[in-house]
Amino acid sequence: MPKKFFIETFGCQMNHHDSEKVAGTLTQMGYVATEDASEADLLLLNTCNIREKANQKVFSRLGALQKTYGTKPGAKVGLLGCMAQMEGPKIFERAPNVDLVVGSSSYSFIPQLIQKLEQGASHVIDVSQDSDRLFETYAQSRESPYKAFVTIMEGCNRFCAFCVVPYTRGPERSRPGDHVLAEIQRLASEGYPEVMLLGQTVNSWRDPASGIPSFAELLKRVAAVPGIRRVRFTSPHPSDFHPEVVEVMETTPKVCNQVHLPVQSGSSEVLKRMKRDYTREEYLRRIEFIQSSPSDIALSTDVIVGFPGESQEQFEETLSLLDQVRYDQIFSFKYSARPGTEAFEFGDTIPEEEKSRRLAVLQEFQRKIQIQRNAALVGKEFEIFVESKSQKGLNELMGRTTQNKIVNFAGSPELLGKFAQVRITHSFPNSLAGELI
Ligand code: SAH
Ligand code: SF4
Ligand code: F3S
Repeated sequence: MPKKFFIETFGCQMNHHDSEKVAGTLTQMGYVATEDASEADLLLLNTCNIREKANQKVFSRLGALQKTYGTKPGAKVGLLGCMAQMEGPKIFERAPNVDLVVGSSSYSFIPQLIQKLEQGASHVIDVSQDSDRLFETYAQSRESPYKAFVTIMEGCNRFCAFCVVPYTRGPERSRPGDHVLAEIQRLASEGYPEVMLLGQTVNSWRDPASGIPSFAELLKRVAAVPGIRRVRFTSPHPSDFHPEVVEVMETTPKVCNQVHLPVQSGSSEVLKRMKRDYTREEYLRRIEFIQSSPSDIALSTDVIVGFPGESQEQFEETLSLLDQVRYDQIFSFKYSARPGTEAFEFGDTIPEEEKSRRLAVLQEFQRKIQIQRNAALVGKEFEIFVESKSQKGLNELMGRTTQNKIVNFAGSPELLGKFAQVRITHSFPNSLAGELI
């Protein structure tokens, strides 16, 4: 009987992609994936550390998996990812039944680490951040048969005052361009029409081998790989966002018309204390450039409310920025003080109820914008890439436009993985409904 592994992932797309790499490695070692934690010989949680809640979730989930569902006798339990990296050996004190801790730079060592566990070692740990095998080609077990994530850079050097990522993911390191292109060629030959390039500040990518002169040029070369039909990337940092990227979207339709440009706050004063490295005006100049493009480019962002010292007026500046930009989508969060970051020293000055109030106001404000924006699309026609069955019901499919708008429509499963033309019939705050043309 082959051994079974169960893996559950928290956090961002980078973490989800890391889980695909780990799953691929385990499969190569002869393990078989299972979705039933109680029959797993190896139970892995790939953790996130971005907000305190993300952290707490991991321990409560761990408890639930072990106590409520029960684990197989002798099963080994491992924590991977950003919390594992940040907390290191302290995890064994807090949760003594954890056997394995692996940080996000050490996945290429999983075979050796698992072998140690199988030989009876306990409390096996690797949280080093200096691996020169970071970008090695992993056997990957991908979640979607149509869309593939591709890591192009790791880590971050920006040290925004609120953020743990530079500590959990280590310094910024770019993957060589020819290495990226080789993976994309392989994906294309395996039949993936869509790729999503990943990095914490993805547009800070610089070819360490200096073969490809810029991130924009990399986008062009990826789009030129035969078989690739859609290219997306996330998340670009506003300070490194150059007009050249918008020009590539205009000249290269395969590069999707979508930019996720995290702003965090609409107040220059708050941005300064966040150490975001741009003012409201500088950010808006980039938005203007994107919005003045003849390509209809969808915009999304991340926002934090209740950063230490954020006044009511400064919060309202964020609302006015949302009003001005009219994003297609936002991801908004209550500030969470993270030990080890610069802002932790500022104290967590905005009471929890006030943060919740601001978040609710902000989300309602944005919901109205999205209702209006999406309503304006009713009657229009789009090409969508059909990527899954819809959550809505039988014979319902889900696809996305180049702007990353979700469209649910009735259609036969034969359309999965194909492109289709749809007309929009209904709109909702977060999605559209359409019919095949
Ligand atoms: N590299 C990206 C952000 C990655 S983290 C960028 O620079 O934009 C994803 C999002 O989590 C951030 O954009 C931010 O909005 C949110 N976030 C990060 N740290 C946080 C914290 N301490 N409290 C609340 N939200 C946080
Ligand atoms: Fe965190 Fe800032 Fe780096 Fe983004 S740019 S990962 S918010 S430190
Ligand atoms: Fe979380 Fe790490 Fe991603 S902290 S958001 S999983 S980079």
